[in-house]
Amino acid sequence: MIPESFIQELLNRVDVVDVIDKSVPLKKAGANYSACCPFHNEKSPSFTVSPTKQFYHCFGCGAHGTAIGFVMEYQGLSFVEAIQDLAKMAGLTVPQEAYDPAKPAPKVVVGLQESLQQAANFYKAELKKSQRAIDYLKARGLSGQVAAKFQIGYAPAAWQNLQSIFPHYENEALTVAGLVVENDQGRRYDRFRDRIMFPIHDQKGQVIGFGGRVIDPEDTPKYYNSPETPLFQKSHELYGLFLARRAIRDAGRALVVEGYMDVVALAQFGIEYAVAALGTATTPYHITKLMRQTDEVVFCFDGDNAGLTAAWRAAMSALPALTDGLKLSFLFLPKEHDPDSYVREFGKEKFEAEVKVAMPLSQFILKHLSENNSLQSQEDRVRFLNEAEPILQLITAPRSAMFLRKKVAELAQLSAEEMQSLLKLPSLNKTPLNVRPKLTRTTLSMQKRYCLMLLMQPAMASRDDLSWAEGDSVEDILLQQTIETCLNHPHSKPVVIMRELENRVDAKVLSELERELNVLDETLDMALELAGARRQLHDAYVQKKEGILLAQISEKPLSALTENERTLLKSLGNKPSQNRA
Ligand code: UTP
Ligand code: MN
Repeated sequence: MIPESFIQELLNRVDVVDVIDKSVPLKKAGANYSACCPFHNEKSPSFTVSPTKQFYHCFGCGAHGTAIGFVMEYQGLSFVEAIQDLAKMAGLTVPQEAYDPAKPAPKVVVGLQESLQQAANFYKAELKKSQRAIDYLKARGLSGQVAAKFQIGYAPAAWQNLQSIFPHYENEALTVAGLVVENDQGRRYDRFRDRIMFPIHDQKGQVIGFGGRVIDPEDTPKYYNSPETPLFQKSHELYGLFLARRAIRDAGRALVVEGYMDVVALAQFGIEYAVAALGTATTPYHITKLMRQTDEVVFCFDGDNAGLTAAWRAAMSALPALTDGLKLSFLFLPKEHDPDSYVREFGKEKFEAEVKVAMPLSQFILKHLSENNSLQSQEDRVRFLNEAEPILQLITAPRSAMFLRKKVAELAQLSAEEMQSLLKLPSLNKTPLNVRPKLTRTTLSMQKRYCLMLLMQPAMASRDDLSWAEGDSVEDILLQQTIETCLNHPHSKPVVIMRELENRVDAKVLSELERELNVLDETLDMALELAGARRQLHDAYVQKKEGILLAQISEKPLSALTENERTLLKSLGNKPSQNRA
């Protein structure tokens, strides 16, 4: 494991501008640098890199992150590989976590990737030995060839099968890789037992995780997946992408399905360009990843209600990444089918014919919006517009947006101009850079605004300010932790302080803060802004204290008040009620 302190030092040392400029030539634009976003297709630049914050951010598709994140995304590297890459660039050597005498030193250091690969080999070999597992796969119609192609395996039923290939079963790497689980009593056992194993590969074809399916339909959960590990983040990975790459290029399209079995069955029937999100909703990362390989993506989810919901969520997460050159469509199978059962019953040709006439995104959106809405009454049409507005707001690809707006206006029985004047929609002539969301001070709490300013100038942190955050609300904790972190890292870049805060404050609040940081106007006078935020916090604090005091005093009869308390009451413009006296 790489020590956290090293990662922070690295983020302080490397310059995200240099790192990105090597792959994506950047142009200076005000305080920042910009380029056309490498993660989605665009003609005018909405990708910005901030040397002060040390973050990159795309106003078009929402891609954002640190130098490490960029190298991972752009080069398809794992976290550890990205660190090593950047360390080389900065002339640093990656240290291993310091030796802790309290813990017995692992005798053999096994790499995470290496142990996952070894496990995959083991599971594959075990499949050959298990008639039960073979029979199961045969019963599901899998050919030996396709099982080999996807390196499908079998984890036997015993508790510590992996001990036979890892003599140092206690090695930390096995738990970190998600292969071994340790219970509260410290007992260690295999995570995957008596399951059909689907190895998950990264873009370089290396095993980074597994999905394991039960054989006995009584067992639960049906699928068990690797946990999030340094190598494996579900929201970023797509099952089957490595194997599908060529076919995606050749076919000019990618098919996104829900299940492991769907990918495998489709491949067996000659549809080799299918991938699956790993039991999570399709994320913008998934879409961006696919858009780098093709400009046509067809989503094909199960025909049931869950499939429909998944399709809608996929559509929504694709909107910000949409460009006029990209074609997204949705294939809805009959209720009782998933892609696996459908292709087995009707074959490749019929399936591909359906793919060709899949429902375009625009039509899907309109259908969804008018599904339970007859648009007959004025109220119906108002509701329709209300539901359409946030969707239209997310689409900035000019042509796609224009056609959709026209259609929405028609259905609402308004002219395009009338609708335009009613809804808050981004202007389509401007480049995405100009429509970037302005920092709205009203929605940002004063605590967050204060923290934001402190992030930009950590040396200005003062221990005195801690008194404004005495509570244990999420925002108070954010304030306390930001102040503490800034005091400890007065010369660090915002990116490092954010990283340090990751383990200390609520994830949701932190991601809001990061979003604000990304769109923060760097031409502001930060010192002035900080002073303003401080004053606001101070005033709010005084007000709150007075409120408490007042509540206490007004409990007492007038005669019991001290001179000071009377003066205070007067100064606050509150007279104690008559009947108290
Ligand atoms: P499905 O139940 O549709 O999977 O779930 P499937 O591949 O068609 O399974 P078979 O045909 O019954 O074998 C879709 C995906 O959701 C995730 C898995 O990634 C699965 O492939 N999932 C499902 C889980 O992670 N856990 C579960 O318990 C169920
Ligand atoms: Mn299925």
